[in-house]
Amino acid sequence: MSLLQDLQWRYATKKMNGKKIPQEKLDYILEAARLAPSSSGLQPFKIIVISDEALLEKIKGVAYNQSQITDCSHLLIFAAWDGYSEERISNVFNYMMDERGLPHSTMDDYKQTILSLYGPLGKDWQAHHAAKQSYISFGMAIAAAAEQRIDATPIEGFLPEKLDALLNLRAEGYRSTVILPLGYRDESNDWLVNMKKVRTPKENFIKVMTIEDAVDTGEQPMGLSLDNFNQK
Ligand SMILES: Cc1cc2nc3c(=O)[nH]c(=O)nc-3n(C[C@H](O)[C@H](O)[C@H](O)COP(=O)(O)O)c2cc1C
Repeated sequence: MSLLQDLQWRYATKKMNGKKIPQEKLDYILEAARLAPSSSGLQPFKIIVISDEALLEKIKGVAYNQSQITDCSHLLIFAAWDGYSEERISNVFNYMMDERGLPHSTMDDYKQTILSLYGPLGKDWQAHHAAKQSYISFGMAIAAAAEQRIDATPIEGFLPEKLDALLNLRAEGYRSTVILPLGYRDESNDWLVNMKKVRTPKENFIKVMTIEDAVDTGEQPMGLSLDNFNQK
């Protein structure tokens, strides 16, 4: 099977049958999510796994009563940092340097640059930036689930403030961004299962550009170069 066949197979499952997925498939999907790239490698988010039925019922109540939340096997909640701080960034880079056997100071210049670029942009911008990183991982999880023939429904239809309160996420410096029920489709009760997959036609979706299409804005190349950082 190719990735394109896997992506054709998957769809945003509207009705799941409650069957449990094997632990090794769950682990595989979570590992794909963990391996996702992120800006500067910060991975400013985590994934919360929930299969507790009573808790799923509560979550459904803040997610427009979408049935997949209680009919899934496991619910993944992607929760991103609510902002960047010196401590958070240092923790990531120090761990990275330890794993690579390099001194912590290797990343000092780069870390200061990130803090000076992100700091003035404020907490909301930072939370949004962190949330975007979580969506890359979310996409990887969706593709990995499809490869494993596990159904998944990407869900943004929930009230983040209420979910965060229920799971006490804000107290820990996190905000929920998106959630992903994993399970098996209930073919006989899912209206979407046999519908044609519809996407923007390629000619409207892909545009090739050359210098002829560019606007001469008079902009000079930036002075700052990321090549100058002492990253090994
Ligand atoms: C970020 C995001 C949020 C979504 N939120 C919901 C949702 O709350 N409920 C739902 O049933 N589907 C949701 N969807 C599914 C989309 O409607 C679906 O992916 C899209 O229509 C394409 O169809 P397909 O995934 O079946 O190919 C969401 C998808 C994404 C990517």
